[in-house]
Amino acid sequence: MIRKKLVAGALILAMTVALGGCGGTTKKEDSKDTPVATEANGAAGGLKDAFADDFTVGVAINTYQLTDSDKLEIIQKDFNSITMENEMKPENILDQAGSEGQSDGMPRIKTDNLESILKLAKDNGFKLRGHTLVWHSQTPDWFFRKDYEASNDYVDKDTMSKRMESYIKQVLTFCQEKYPGVVYAWDVVNEAMGDGGGFRTEGSGWYDIFGEEFIEKAFTYARKYADKDVKLFYNDYNSYEASKRNMIFATVSKLKEKNLIDGIGMQSHWDMEYPSVDNIETAIEKFSEIKGIEIQLTEIDMHNTDDSDEGLKAQAARYKEIFTMLKNMDKKGANITNVTFWGLQDDVTWLSSFKGEESFPLLFDADGKAKPVYNSLMEVAKAK
Ligand code: XIL
Repeated sequence: MIRKKLVAGALILAMTVALGGCGGTTKKEDSKDTPVATEANGAAGGLKDAFADDFTVGVAINTYQLTDSDKLEIIQKDFNSITMENEMKPENILDQAGSEGQSDGMPRIKTDNLESILKLAKDNGFKLRGHTLVWHSQTPDWFFRKDYEASNDYVDKDTMSKRMESYIKQVLTFCQEKYPGVVYAWDVVNEAMGDGGGFRTEGSGWYDIFGEEFIEKAFTYARKYADKDVKLFYNDYNSYEASKRNMIFATVSKLKEKNLIDGIGMQSHWDMEYPSVDNIETAIEKFSEIKGIEIQLTEIDMHNTDDSDEGLKAQAARYKEIFTMLKNMDKKGANITNVTFWGLQDDVTWLSSFKGEESFPLLFDADGKAKPVYNSLMEVAKAK
């Protein structure tokens, strides 16, 4: 029965992908033979079980990976949380043609692929981190413009505020009504801080129209429409850099006082040298000063161009050091509730194109074989 349902879901998704319903990834696989889903739902003994006392363990994926039986088996064994790498971003949900010419002036959303994702997550027993609602990137420019036309001027604050509310309401309500409990957290606002201190001002329709006000606005609407137990996060990269760390701390503290936020997502795109374990620890300590705040490491990867035995051993050692610290911090009272890896296998990582060189940042190699880092994380999990 379960198997039948999964195969049907897999086929719908294969069709969606073929029709271009998926967001881009750095390396998309050619469509495989007829996808067959496995019944090995949540086999024990993986990372998710090893870290059960510490935090949930997640992975960023694309739906086509859930329709490949080998990958699904790994995902189910090791992970109990998933994030869609691209498919739940505004550019893949907002419907330009549907939004144009509506008498209420509000945007329309595309729900077919969203529904497939929610169904797949539910059928396979995964909880889903929603990524992401309000972001300067991967949000179409036309969304901010009069009549939803990219060549027009920006709309005014009041209109944009209504569009924002409508978008957040529609997405949250769709997820919650169709598949209650599946999406357990949302990255409500992503990357609103600038790199050199202050708020991000460049390349953001949100900032252009509202200034920094858009941050609190987004959380206000998300809180208004989110089910009670759905957690709301602010998510950013380089959150351990002093200026960004302090901006995040100040902004989230204010939101927390108003009960508009539940957690901080530290993206965690690391490389072999930076950041230091201390940098990360200091940021976690700082964020933990905000009473009741959850911390999740939402997009972990470690850029590494050396896949020789030595290179992979060095990577395993660095991952081990960081995870030992995370586990200790969690035991000492930092409320780290999830760690999520930004990809499953080294052949599907955004880093190779982002960095312009082949990267081997993840836990599994291109053949789905566990790399040395996998065992080093198991050792951390099992250590007292
Ligand atoms: C990346 C995806 O991995 C790529 O496939 C896409 O082309 C661009 O976005 N911070 C985030 C993620 O919050 O959404 C980004 O994901 C990586 C950086």
